[in-house]
Amino acid sequence: MKILVVGSGGREHALCWAIAKSPKCTKLYAAPGNAGIADVAECVNVDADDIDAILTFAKSKKIDFVVVGPEIPLVDGLVDNLDKAGIKAFGPSKKAAQLEGSKAFMKDLLAKYDIPTAEYGVFDEPDAAKEYILKMDGPVVVKADGLAAGKGVIVCHNKNEAYAAIDHIMIERAFGDAGDEVLVEEFMPGEEVSFFALVDGTTAVAMGSAQDHKAVHDGDTGPNTGGMGAYSPTPLVDKAMHKMIMEDIIQPTIEAMAAEDCPYKGVLFAGLMIKDGKPRVLEYNVRFGDPECQVLMARMNSDVLEALVACADGNLKDAKITWKKSTALVVVMAADGYPGNYAKGTLINNLANAGSIKGVEIFHAGTKLQGKKVVSNGGRVLGVTSIGKTVKDAQDKAYEAVDAIEWPEGFCRRDIGWRAIEREDA
Ligand code: AMP
Ligand code: GLY
Repeated sequence: MKILVVGSGGREHALCWAIAKSPKCTKLYAAPGNAGIADVAECVNVDADDIDAILTFAKSKKIDFVVVGPEIPLVDGLVDNLDKAGIKAFGPSKKAAQLEGSKAFMKDLLAKYDIPTAEYGVFDEPDAAKEYILKMDGPVVVKADGLAAGKGVIVCHNKNEAYAAIDHIMIERAFGDAGDEVLVEEFMPGEEVSFFALVDGTTAVAMGSAQDHKAVHDGDTGPNTGGMGAYSPTPLVDKAMHKMIMEDIIQPTIEAMAAEDCPYKGVLFAGLMIKDGKPRVLEYNVRFGDPECQVLMARMNSDVLEALVACADGNLKDAKITWKKSTALVVVMAADGYPGNYAKGTLINNLANAGSIKGVEIFHAGTKLQGKKVVSNGGRVLGVTSIGKTVKDAQDKAYEAVDAIEWPEGFCRRDIGWRAIEREDA
């Protein structure tokens, strides 16, 4: 099969690395890819958000299967367009992608089908939102309805902060049209986990849990980022919790989507809050997490391409998907200054040596080639990924590789996996 992976992050490098291992993959392209992806795929100069250009490219190369990494082309309808052109793809339709593209759509669906989530209200004008806030007890969370690159969520400690958040989103229009509507939500205390399932319209197969580290600094301090590291699975999701998540959250959501005439295909990424042994939905994403995808791909034993094709074909029931028993962990290395301003074009050395440590794989995110040299080209730059018997074991290996990488203009958190390691030690 000729495959095209859309995207250029660490997530897409992990997908390309896994797909390239499949005997069914005869040619692999990435649009636009990065310096690491170039080792396993042919990178083409096509933007991940440019639906027309992706269609033209896929038709011209007679691509058999397109794997879409990021949310924007999914929400914009790339999969529907490919489908019309007779090209198979991994990912939800535009309508089903509303699960991530509109928080109001997602919350209304969960409420209608009694799927556990926070109490909420949806408003298209500021005064009504403020009236609702006035009546709420305790802290609230204010969210722009649409896509806002992960920045449209404001956790408010008191009512004045919440009113200011409404003005920020609806009057100052900090997130543009994404703020046409706002959600006001009850704040849910607890511990956050990510949970992933492959879905083919009717059947869901669990990929398991992961825990991201969103804050930029150790101890979960500093501003939020796209994710500074992750590990999978997390001990917080034991067998009983796994079953509860599948039965009370994932399966009812798939059934609800089918009942609403937008059957879900692709990977369903649930952001969950767990408190007192009960999971509730924080958000849904319609794509793999980045960096969670890196640890999921590192843990998957069976043919990834076969699993992704089975989602598109509606054949998941018959797919044989197996996982390594080990834990995988990824440490993100970012450019100094991220998530604020940072320099691009700084030189990264000794990647080959670092990547040759047993059980370590280095996935590239914001990198590009300058001649034969790898230079930084974004905020999050590398995902140093390892597998080990325990989280601690995987963490030790990942940091051994991190320490071998020569990149003075980069940094990383030194405590990825701390919650699980505390549990392992307990
Ligand atoms: P979201 O993009 O909706 O997942 O929100 C981003 C982050 O805000 C989440 O990962 C949580 O840490 C936090 N958050 C969002 N909604 C809530 C909520 N209702 N209660 C507590 N924390 C929340
Ligand atoms: N790492 C979180 C996300 O991809 O949304």
